[in-house]
Amino acid sequence: MKTDKLLLRALSGETLPIPPVWLMRQAGRYLPEYRATRAKAGSFLDLCYNPELAIEVTMQPMRRYGFDAAILFADILLVPQALGANLTFVQGEGPRLSTITNAEDLAKLGSVDDIHATLSPIYETVRGLAETLPPETTLIGFAGAPWTVATYMVAGRGTPDQAPARDLIARQPEVFDALMEKITAATIGYLEKQVEAGAEVIKLFDSWAGTLNWEDFAKYSIAPTKRIVDALHARWPNLPIIGFPRGAGTGYEAYIAQTGITAVALGSTVSPHFAKERLQPKLCVQGNLDPLFMVVGGDPLVRATQRIVEILKDGPFIFNLGHGITPDADPKNVDLMLKTIRG
Ligand code: CP3
Repeated sequence: MKTDKLLLRALSGETLPIPPVWLMRQAGRYLPEYRATRAKAGSFLDLCYNPELAIEVTMQPMRRYGFDAAILFADILLVPQALGANLTFVQGEGPRLSTITNAEDLAKLGSVDDIHATLSPIYETVRGLAETLPPETTLIGFAGAPWTVATYMVAGRGTPDQAPARDLIARQPEVFDALMEKITAATIGYLEKQVEAGAEVIKLFDSWAGTLNWEDFAKYSIAPTKRIVDALHARWPNLPIIGFPRGAGTGYEAYIAQTGITAVALGSTVSPHFAKERLQPKLCVQGNLDPLFMVVGGDPLVRATQRIVEILKDGPFIFNLGHGITPDADPKNVDLMLKTIRG
């Protein structure tokens, strides 16, 4: 592949001497400059819908650390909001949404074609970032995978095991399937607009894939992901798409074999030895340092980082965490991690 962008080279299957690095949630509350910009915006959602400030917070970790990729600053719950769900973020607690528990709730949602009126500031952010980023940096757009988005729409909040959504599948599958259909179609439209605006890679966050039983994992994680990948690849055959079926365990192999994704992000519970043997021969892998090490720092961080790099360095590999960096992470530990990887 003819590009100087290390992230795109790894995604195209190249083994690099030093892996490209970025971090999930790299723009976020662990950075004092992020907290200052969020205060200026008013709230987290105001920040998401303000292209100038969203570009600023996307760039903050790039300036500080020189990551190989920038990820669009937005949230997976903007799609439900654009479909008509009432969304707020309660400081220190997380998202709250109006719930979908029956056919009447579902009928109140808006049409898929109408989401872009709400989401157009996000596309403006992507366009601005595509113009702002240095030539060696890759721009990642993203969306939640339909199952993960549905879990929040059904429960109206995050829950430890996403039981409300699994309950709806068991009791009213026709309602749940219609909801998934709507989210999947909206997600395709949303991601198409991001690519048109300049996103070079797409990441699909199925953060709650690990709560699905084996049959429903095939139906509600693999199948909708494949639909999104097929739709995007029909228009952009070479568009790299990173899938993240967090917690999928043995399901990781079927997920990569059946979805058509370009690369797979590993949660922290996936053994890099397993990834090296069973996944990396087929595609680029990304991961998977436990975010806790970004809080702990010191020798434990250095050693854990070195072990992952040592195991995965002989194939296509992108260094990342196994989940998002947490607000209590020390920004200095990101420097230490980068020094450990890049020397
Ligand atoms: O830097 C980046 O990674 C880009 C922006 C980004 C955010 N959320 C910003 C954010 C991305 C890619 C996401 C994805 C996202 N959002 C996921 C999938 C990844 C994962 O972590 O599993 C999920 C499940 C969400 C939904 C969500 N957004 C929750 C549950 C919460 C509250 C809990 C928490 O982690 O804060 C959010 C809020 C959120 N999204 C913040 C940020 C920076 C914190 C909001 C604040 O500033 O107060």
